[in-house]
Amino acid sequence: MRAVLVCSILIAAAATAPAVAAEKVQLSVDLSKAGAKIDRNIFGQFAEHLGHGIYEGVWVGPDSTIPNTRGIRNDVVAALRALKVPNVRWPGGCFADNYHWRNGIGPADKRVQTLNPDWGGVIEPNTFGTHEFMDLVNQIGSEAYISVNVGSGTPQEAAEWLEYMTAAQPTTLARQRATNGHAAAYKVGYLGIGNESWACGGNMTADTYLSQLKIYSRFVRNYNPAQEGKQQMLKIAVGPGDANTEWTETIMKAYRNHEWSWDIHGLSVHSYTVVKWPPSYASVGFGAAEYSQILKSTLEMEDLVTKQSAVMDKYDPQKKVALVVDEWGAWYAPLPGTNPGFLVQQNSLRDAILASLNLNIFARHGDRVRMANIAQMVNVLQAMIITDKEKMVLTPTYQIFRMYVPFQDATFVPVTFDAGTYTKGNISLPRLDAIAAKDASGKLWLAITNLHPEEPVEIEADLVGIAPKSATGETLTAPRVDSVNTFEAPNTVVPKPVPVKVQGSRLALKLEPKSVTVISLEQ
Ligand code: AHR
Repeated sequence: MRAVLVCSILIAAAATAPAVAAEKVQLSVDLSKAGAKIDRNIFGQFAEHLGHGIYEGVWVGPDSTIPNTRGIRNDVVAALRALKVPNVRWPGGCFADNYHWRNGIGPADKRVQTLNPDWGGVIEPNTFGTHEFMDLVNQIGSEAYISVNVGSGTPQEAAEWLEYMTAAQPTTLARQRATNGHAAAYKVGYLGIGNESWACGGNMTADTYLSQLKIYSRFVRNYNPAQEGKQQMLKIAVGPGDANTEWTETIMKAYRNHEWSWDIHGLSVHSYTVVKWPPSYASVGFGAAEYSQILKSTLEMEDLVTKQSAVMDKYDPQKKVALVVDEWGAWYAPLPGTNPGFLVQQNSLRDAILASLNLNIFARHGDRVRMANIAQMVNVLQAMIITDKEKMVLTPTYQIFRMYVPFQDATFVPVTFDAGTYTKGNISLPRLDAIAAKDASGKLWLAITNLHPEEPVEIEADLVGIAPKSATGETLTAPRVDSVNTFEAPNTVVPKPVPVKVQGSRLALKLEPKSVTVISLEQ
């Protein structure tokens, strides 16, 4: 057997590691048992008209001194391009069921000023509308996931919006789109039919929503000829906001016997890591106890996805309908001094670990979970990016999304290991989590999270079906669980290279406490 020793350079990451003897964990990756594709859409983003999520965070207007392209911040676009964002959900959220698309088209100085009653009661200038959103999606190389207004809109209004965006023939609406600057039909990859229709989207029962769903699914059409067949727009129904499965039962039961005249391709579920409402956990200045409570809460995603998937399996054993986790992430108390309606919070190493655990859950359920959208992309909740006027900083969560890019559309490969336990007070967590995948070029990717905030782990891995030529890796960790990146110190939580030893089909590496490590192995 050919033995190769590959050792990359050890850099300062180790400086944060306490002098604790590392426990050894055996891990096995079996390439002969490849599973489902990890759909790139699980790395989707969500951008709502909420606080500074759009205005200031993405949109500064063409006359701004902040460098922009047609009003969209260049720094934010460049950062998002690096994430290969597969889709962006817009305009909400609760905002979607207040949104009337005609307010957001036409000359900027003629746009009407409306209100944003859900989020701070501020004026909505409507300067960021359909064309600006499509421009954003195009600039970052992503796809549009449009949520239409079911709560306070009509099927006709939504149908006309889709005609406006997608008709290639010279209808009056398509000509209006051309007059407003875009002659070609837009592509709308995904259509969300309402948002949280059981709450802010209209307080409907599942049966009432189902009637609406059938009507919207029938009449809200995509006319773009380029979206026929495999490129068809995927319609996503509102699903539940917790592990309760009654709503899912109603929709999926109807789906099983659905007529030709309506259809869905996805059922959404929303699940925030919040522990209890209203959100009260601080996003900064916490210790190991709050770290453990939040991670315990986030791991409930596993149970939620398992329960909802089981109901879907009953009515859709062929798994035609995807479970779309189109709002997820940590929701903490608003930062002191901010508008509570703007949902402003910091983003720490804890959030990076939380993101890795959720992405791992989605990847393990890849046969059913084929789309997810973290809330939200910029300046709101568990954001990728935080801005303040001309300043921008990339969060620890951003770093995880960047490190996980190779998992997009890669094939899931099972990993077995004894996770062990980390206990803090009355909370027990798995101390380790891991996923693996093979990309289109044959590279094997391994992501391992060490949840333990104080103790490192020595990994010894058996690689079944691969004897790699080389291995490289990077680790994300920081001095404390609540370490954050700030405008003044933007590189506190950034990935650093990690040494990996490979010998034949065995791999060895040391994981820092409270870290996420991604390794690539080349055959
Ligand atoms: O992401 C913030 C809000 O959370 C969304 O607008 C809503 O759908 C959910 O309740």
